[in-house]
Amino acid sequence: MELIDVMLKRRSTRKFTDEPVAKDELDKILQAALLAPTSMNRKPCNFMVVERKETLDALSKSKNHGADLIKGADKAIVVVGDAMVADTWIEDSSIALTYMHLMATELGLGSCWVQIHLRDKDGEDSEQIVRDILKIDEHYRIVGIMALGHSNDIPKAHTLDDIDKNKIHFLV
Ligand SMILES: Cc1cc2nc3c(=O)[nH]c(=O)nc-3n(C[C@H](O)[C@H](O)[C@H](O)COP(=O)(O)O)c2cc1C
Repeated sequence: MELIDVMLKRRSTRKFTDEPVAKDELDKILQAALLAPTSMNRKPCNFMVVERKETLDALSKSKNHGADLIKGADKAIVVVGDAMVADTWIEDSSIALTYMHLMATELGLGSCWVQIHLRDKDGEDSEQIVRDILKIDEHYRIVGIMALGHSNDIPKAHTLDDIDKNKIHFLV
């Protein structure tokens, strides 16, 4: 697919089938994550691939709204930015999440970004909840999780007519 077609087809998908994501598909998504640019090439992100149903279930309860879909995913990739390696962990993690989202689309898979940073579960910090599930230290920061799976329910592709050109301002 041309890159513009991948961008149009990329939709947040929240329902998945039971068909497993194949190893070569997962490899390509992780390659995309590792190809993402990082500030000063510091590469602060690690990618934790979650497949166990119990762990997917626990992650799906890590915030009040918008994480339930992880329960039905075949896999989730938690992007873990090391704040001791780079102060740009938010930016670097976000680009990696975006690259994975686009590669999943290219492969015909469903995927969805689940925000963790700045979110909470009944007042408890969602990042800390996820760190506890993964048993990792506090300097590891979690912008979000990419939920992944095959799907019969990928929303319709965007079209170029959907884009809001009023957001573009040419300065004279
Ligand atoms: C920073 C960010 C955080 C998001 N967090 C969530 C989330 O926690 N749960 C969810 O279901 N979707 C989440 N999404 C998906 C957005 O809701 C979605 O991208 C937006 O509604 C546009 O739809 P589309 O992705 O299908 O084009 C997030 C997307 C971004 C970029």
